[in-house]
Amino acid sequence: MNLILLGPPGAGKGTQAKRLEERFGLVQVSTGDMLRAEVKAGTEVGRQAKAIMESGALVPDQIIIAMLAARVAQPDAARGFILDGFPRTVPQAEALDGMLKDKGLRLDHVIELRVDDAALVRRISGRFTCARCGEGYHDEFKAPRQVGVCDVCGSAEFSRRADDKAETVGARLAAYHAQTAPLLPYYAAQGKLRAVDGMADMSEVTEELNRILAQPA
Ligand code: AP5
Repeated sequence: MNLILLGPPGAGKGTQAKRLEERFGLVQVSTGDMLRAEVKAGTEVGRQAKAIMESGALVPDQIIIAMLAARVAQPDAARGFILDGFPRTVPQAEALDGMLKDKGLRLDHVIELRVDDAALVRRISGRFTCARCGEGYHDEFKAPRQVGVCDVCGSAEFSRRADDKAETVGARLAAYHAQTAPLLPYYAAQGKLRAVDGMADMSEVTEELNRILAQPA
C-alpha cells in the first residue's frame, strides 16, 4: 500500500505517519526530515535548503524530486510507503505519478488532514522533540510525564525546530495555501482524495485513518 498524507504544517502528518508505519508495516518518507538530515550533515542539498526552510518557503522542486526518487528506490520502500510532506506542488505530484508508473506501482490513498489555521499556529509553536531519540512532545497537548525528562529514553535535552517560530509559521501556511492546496483538486480528479478531521484527538484521527485504510482503495 502506498499513500500520501496531505495537509498544512502542523496538521499531524508526522504524528499519524509514525502510527501507520507501525500498524501497517509501511515506511514513512518525510521530505522535511530528509532535508533536516541534509542540513545537519552539511551537504550541498542541506546548504541550499537551510535558509529557504528557515524562511518558511518551499525548497525548489528539482532538489526535492531527485531526493524523493532516490529514497523510494531504496529496498525498504518496496514494503509500501507513507509520503509525509511530499508532494507539495503540482509539478511534484506529476513527477510522482511518473515515478510510480515507471516502477509499476500505484497510489492507493491520498488523505487530507483538515485543521484550522489558528489551531496550527498553536500546535506548531508548542512543539519540541527529544534531542536524543526524537520523541515528539507539545507544551500543551503532550508534555513529558516528568518535566524535563524524555518518557522514552530519559534524556533531559530537547530541541525546537528553527522554522517553528511564530513569525515563520505564517509564511509556511501561506506557502501551503498557495502551492500545496491545488493538489486537493488534482487528487480529487483522480478519485483518490479522502478527508479526515485533523482537529479531533490524535487517537480519533488514527482510528479514522485505520478505518479508511482497511477499506479497498
Ligand atoms: P516538513 O518537515 O514537512 O513540515 P510541515 O509540512 O510544515 O509539517 P510539520 O512537520 O510541521 O507538521 P506535521 O503535519 O507533521 O504535524 P506534527 O505531526 O508534527 O517541512 C519543513 C520544510 O521543509 C518546509 O517548510 C519546506 O521548506 C521544506 N520541504 C519539506 N518538504 C518539501 C517539499 N516536498 N517541497 C518543498 N519543500 C519542502 O504535529 C504538529 C504538533 O501538533 C505536534 O506537537 C503534535 O504533537 C501536535 N498534534 C498532532 N496531531 C494533533 C491532534 N490531533 N490534536 C492536538 N495536537 C496534535
